[in-house]
Amino acid sequence: MVPSDEFKQAMRHLAGGVAVIATEHEGRRAGLSATAVCSVSADPPTLLICINSGASAHDPIRESGRFSVNLLASEQNDIARRFSGETGIKGEERFGLGSWMPLVTGAPVLKSALAGIDCRVTEVVQMATHSVFFGVVVGVTSRAAASPLIYAHGTYGTFSPDGAGLWW
Ligand SMILES: Cc1cc2nc3c(=O)[nH]c(=O)nc-3n(C[C@H](O)[C@H](O)[C@H](O)COP(=O)(O)O)c2cc1C
Repeated sequence: MVPSDEFKQAMRHLAGGVAVIATEHEGRRAGLSATAVCSVSADPPTLLICINSGASAHDPIRESGRFSVNLLASEQNDIARRFSGETGIKGEERFGLGSWMPLVTGAPVLKSALAGIDCRVTEVVQMATHSVFFGVVVGVTSRAAASPLIYAHGTYGTFSPDGAGLWW
């Protein structure tokens, strides 16, 4: 095994689209910024998220059995910073930025996200410090094309396509 710092250093090169994962449990909303989001299957539409068991949204996701994945646009890094805890704003207060609405499951979906993907948890796998939640997709919203918010090398940026062709 390699030291975890070496692993983290290597993973800094993996550029990832930034999402806010959000849920609602017993009338309280909770959410966090995440890049560990992966499409699993198109039939049935299924994705996975990896959530640290110490994150404040972890237990609400497990207990409510629902979550939304809100893919952020490049101008939404203020939302990403807020949901990563960087600004010190916690819990329900994080939802004071942007307009949120329930879609199908009742998890809050960000209206201005590039896409909002509403999921019901189908399976949870415990892996070291994280839980991998598999979700079947029961609702989707998507916005007109815009640049995604990307995180790499410890900083936020956006995607610049090769050449002048349209990429969406
Ligand atoms: C760009 C970025 C990506 C992140 N991705 C994840 C992730 O995939 N899974 C995770 O558990 N935490 C991830 N985090 C950390 C959480 O956002 C952060 O620990 C959490 O919001 C803290 O919230 P809390 O203080 O309410 O627990 C990421 C942070 C940043 C800045």
